[in-house]
Amino acid sequence: MSTRKVILTGDTPTGQLHLGHYIGSVKRRLELQETHECFFLLANLHAFTTNLDCPDGIRSDTLEIVRDYLAMGIDPEKAAISLQSEIPAIAELTFLFAMLLPYNRVMRNPTLKEEIKVKGLGDNYSFGFPLYAVGQTADILAFRAHSVPVGEDQVPHIELTREVARRFNKLYCGIDENIEDDDPIMEEKGVFPIPLADVGKVGKLIGTDGVNKMSKSLNNAILITDSKKEVKKKLGQLYTGRQSMTEPGDPNNSLMQYVDIFIPDADRVEELKEKYVKGDNIGDGHIKVELAEAISTLLEPMQERRVQFEGDDDAIIDIIRDGTARANLKTEETLAMAKEACGLGFFDRSIALGGS
Ligand code: TRP
Repeated sequence: MSTRKVILTGDTPTGQLHLGHYIGSVKRRLELQETHECFFLLANLHAFTTNLDCPDGIRSDTLEIVRDYLAMGIDPEKAAISLQSEIPAIAELTFLFAMLLPYNRVMRNPTLKEEIKVKGLGDNYSFGFPLYAVGQTADILAFRAHSVPVGEDQVPHIELTREVARRFNKLYCGIDENIEDDDPIMEEKGVFPIPLADVGKVGKLIGTDGVNKMSKSLNNAILITDSKKEVKKKLGQLYTGRQSMTEPGDPNNSLMQYVDIFIPDADRVEELKEKYVKGDNIGDGHIKVELAEAISTLLEPMQERRVQFEGDDDAIIDIIRDGTARANLKTEETLAMAKEACGLGFFDRSIALGGS
C-alpha cells in the first residue's frame, strides 16, 4: 500500500475553471501530483445546493472542469479525478458526521454565511445547503487526507473538518482531543488524520473588477479559454483610479498584484513597481499590455492541450470512471474502519463499485 501522504481537494461544477483556480490551487496540485497520493474531487452533488434546476448544466460543467484540469496539466494517471456522486462512502459518512456537529456550529461557518449573503439566499435555502458543509468534511475525511490545497475562502470548511476528525477520534477511538495533529497515536489508534489547509501564496486572486475575488458568476474572471484579445479587454476593466502616467501609483493595488503574480521575470517586476510608485512615465495601459502578453503566454499551451479533449465526452468519462474506481477503493476502506470504530461493523459487505 502507498505510504505517500494523501491530498484531497475538489471543485464544484458551477462553471468553467478560470485563472483564479489555476493560480490559487491547480498550480500547486501540479507539484503535489508528483509526490503525493492525490485525489481531485468533482463535487457535483454540491452543485445542486444552488443549481438544482439546471442538472444539464451541472453535468456539462463537470466534464468541462475535467477538460480544464487536463489542459492545466493534471495527469489522471498520477491523480485520481473522482466523481462525488459515485462515491457512496462520502454520503454515508456525511450522515454520521452530521451527528457529530451541533447545528449551530455548522451555521456559524463564515463561508456559508458569506454565500448566503452574496447569493441573496435569505432564509430561502434548502436543508441541503448547510448540509454541504458537513458533506465537505466527509469528502476530505473519506480519503483520510493529510492536506487540502485550497483558496483562502475554503479554510473555514477545513477547520470544521478538523473538528469532526478530532471528535470522531475522541468518541470512538479514545484519543485525547488536545494532542498534537502529528502525534503518532493519531495514526495508530485514530481513524482520521487531522487534515491541514494548504493555502497557496495567492490565497485569493482579485477579479478584473479590481474589487471582488475572481469568480465566473461575478463576471470578473479570465477564463482558461480566453483569447489574447479577450484577456486584454478584461484587463482593461481593472480600475485603479490612477489618472495619468506621472501620478505615483499604489504598489499594493490590484494591478500590481497581477504584476507580481503573472510577470515571470522578478527583475522586471521590481523595475515596473519602482516606476509605478514614482509615476515615472508609466501608464496603467502600458502595464496591462505587458500583463496581457504574460497571461496569454501562460494560457496558450493550456488552450492547445484543451483542444485535444474537446468534443469527445466518452474519453473524459473514461478518465472519471477510472479515478472514481480508485477513490472507491480508498473510501470504502475508510468507511469500514469508521463503522468498525463506532460499533456499526456488523458484517463485511461487498458491493460492486467502479462502473463499466
Ligand atoms: N467547496 C469547494 C469549492 O467550492 C469545493 C470542494 C468540495 C472541496 N469538496 C471539497 C474543496 C473538499 C476541498 C476539499 O471550491
